[in-house]
Amino acid sequence: MGIDMNRDRLSEILGATYLPDEIEKKIPLIEEINRLKKEKNAVILGHNYMTPDVFHGVSDIMGDSLYLSKMAAETNAEIILFNGVHFMAETAKILSPNKKVLIGDLKAGCSLAESITAKDVLHLKKLHPGAPVITYVNCSAEVKAETDICCTSANAVKIVNSVESDTVIFLPDEYLASNVQKHTTKKLITHPGRCMVHEIYQKSDIDQARKQFEELVVISHPECNSDVVSASDFSGSTSEMAGFIEKSSAENIMLITECSMGDNLRSSFPKKHFVSTCQTCPHMKKITLEKVRDALFYEQYEINLSEDIISRGKKSVNRMLEISYGKK
Ligand code: 13P
Ligand code: SF4
Repeated sequence: MGIDMNRDRLSEILGATYLPDEIEKKIPLIEEINRLKKEKNAVILGHNYMTPDVFHGVSDIMGDSLYLSKMAAETNAEIILFNGVHFMAETAKILSPNKKVLIGDLKAGCSLAESITAKDVLHLKKLHPGAPVITYVNCSAEVKAETDICCTSANAVKIVNSVESDTVIFLPDEYLASNVQKHTTKKLITHPGRCMVHEIYQKSDIDQARKQFEELVVISHPECNSDVVSASDFSGSTSEMAGFIEKSSAENIMLITECSMGDNLRSSFPKKHFVSTCQTCPHMKKITLEKVRDALFYEQYEINLSEDIISRGKKSVNRMLEISYGKK
């Protein structure tokens, strides 16, 4: 299996989400994918929002956007299959241009990435000359090419505070910007992009759940609005949320993020009770086991970027990795 795991253990993990009949159908497909992966010297990266069959069954490296970017730069495999969304696969291509980078469905997009174009960035640069552009990795390769430094939800505050300028163009998530603004004295110029999953949550969802469940620990993603984040006990990237849960003794946990994250954590922490607040990302959900198998079998769909976009995009992604990990 993705991580060295036998059939029984995998069935146990998947049992937290799927019925026994469903698991029986999934296991042969999972085994085929893992066979193909070895034959083709491929590595599968899996974002925390993948469904448990894809996440636990076939992913070699799992994590948040920042960690997966780092690992995409370090892998020795000939093929990288990115189980996540299009901008993530593009980031992998920027960092590993000589490798074949695949994604199971080219339509696995992102409302944030779609909210901004390279032209918008150029326009903002003209309006605010001299202000550095810091862009969330949830954007196209063309936007990364016009960016000074990328960031993710795990390092946004650190990246913003690392620049000298007092004014920063921070794109494209207006909610992430408002959450970062609380931790910096710099003036952030923003853009009206939003994550279609996290923008749905409201503070009243938390107030209601706190009335219902005793000693509820609420954990939210910083793509939520600032009222939601302020009413939460912890807010962080998908991997930071998982890390917080690992260290916490809390029994009742309300996860304010994409649905599959809760499913994956339920398997990892069977003794904890996850209060379900299920909002699914239709883009992430385009990646299914069947498409992962086809992606490896037919070596589709390949991410191709021009040399110019790769070399300019690489600067902004590498600057982020340098600031986060102290190396390229
Ligand atoms: P992170 O994994 O960086 O927290 O990103 C969340 C997200 O929405 C990616 O689509
Ligand atoms: Fe984009 Fe939100 Fe889906 Fe992540 S969860 S891919 S930010 S729409």
